[in-house]
Amino acid sequence: MPLIKVILGSTRPGRFGEQPAKWIMELAKSHPGAKFELVDLKEINLPLLDEPVPALMSQEYVHEHTKQWSKIVDEADGFIFITPEYNSGVPAAMKNAVDYLAVEWRHKPVAFVSYGAGGGGILAVNNWRSIFAYLSLLGLADHIHFNEYYKHLDEAGNLSPSDEQTAKGHLLLKNISFWADKLRPIREELANRL
Ligand SMILES: Cc1cc2nc3c(=O)[nH]c(=O)nc-3n(C[C@H](O)[C@H](O)[C@H](O)COP(=O)(O)O)c2cc1C
Repeated sequence: MPLIKVILGSTRPGRFGEQPAKWIMELAKSHPGAKFELVDLKEINLPLLDEPVPALMSQEYVHEHTKQWSKIVDEADGFIFITPEYNSGVPAAMKNAVDYLAVEWRHKPVAFVSYGAGGGGILAVNNWRSIFAYLSLLGLADHIHFNEYYKHLDEAGNLSPSDEQTAKGHLLLKNISFWADKLRPIREELANRL
């Protein structure tokens, strides 16, 4: 069964990001074809990239935090990025976490849940797509965005997605599960050829 990691990328106190992360994890309970795990970058707490050798050149990491982060990403078969948009681009803590590694991301599918004030995180996701093309991830078209996210809250302040967003959420989970499963043997084949 493929393992999909849901990466919660905001690390700010009072962050909104927990809500879409919880929402997608809740929906994931009705997708038994894959295992979903939440990865909270606030808990992982990586310092600013401090490996002397770029991950693209070597996986001989010197720091324990890099080794642990490498294991977390390496064992995943796919990812869902829960991303805010900061200043029309990707959030720094999330980009820092991505930059730590290289081969651990490669040839794995990624889908997106984004949110923002005016832009719904669409610029951030476009930014992610070019970053992930460089790292050879398979960026799925599946992308749910919460534009003016504060308009999607119920009276208690909890995220309350529309039926359409929920249907898109299920489709995203179905598609990421499919591709995570299909790409796993292909990665093994590639590894044997290299
Ligand atoms: C540094 C910073 C930059 C932001 N830039 C944008 C932006 O470019 N577009 C946007 O729609 N919202 C922007 N916002 C508003 C965020 O969408 C909003 O604060 C959201 O709660 C951030 O996600 P978080 O709470 O999970 O960190 C920005 C917020 C911060 C803190």
